Amino acid sequence: MLSKKLEKALNDQIRIEAESSQVYLSMASWAEVKGLEGIAGFMYGHSDEERMHMLKLVKYVNERGGHAHVSDLKAPKTEFGSFQNMFEELYQHELFVSKSINELVHVTLQEQDYATHNFLQWYVAEQLEEEALARTVLDKINLIGNDKGGLYLFDRDIQQLTVESAASDTAGE
Ligand code: FEO
Repeated sequence: MLSKKLEKALNDQIRIEAESSQVYLSMASWAEVKGLEGIAGFMYGHSDEERMHMLKLVKYVNERGGHAHVSDLKAPKTEFGSFQNMFEELYQHELFVSKSINELVHVTLQEQDYATHNFLQWYVAEQLEEEALARTVLDKINLIGNDKGGLYLFDRDIQQLTVESAASDTAGE
């Protein structure tokens, strides 16, 4: 049985994952409207992944005798200025999520709930991957600068990044 404190902390994380899904959905829509199909595809895929992170937590909380709450979500921004800025925001958002996962892991230790501690290791590893992916993307963006041809190639190649990460996700399951 989950302690009330841990149940609340897990429910907070459920909301954060749901909000992350909305943030990336909004980024996907912005990119699609700008004609950046590859970037839009990457963001739609990322939004789906966040929903999966959220669902995994919902099922875990209910399985452990808690009650997963579906709550109000903060509306994401709809404008991102430039694709460079948008990916910087993605990176910052993932750093925020990592911090929140770390705090959640800390609560499991306080509550001496080692099953939840174990369950959350998947999220700890996932955050490392997400941060690394975001940094890889930012490095590529820095190389492009304002070169239009570079943006064309980036928009094409980022679809590969999505495919590759989707493939390794499936292999890891
Ligand atoms: Fe579920 Fe991107 O953190």
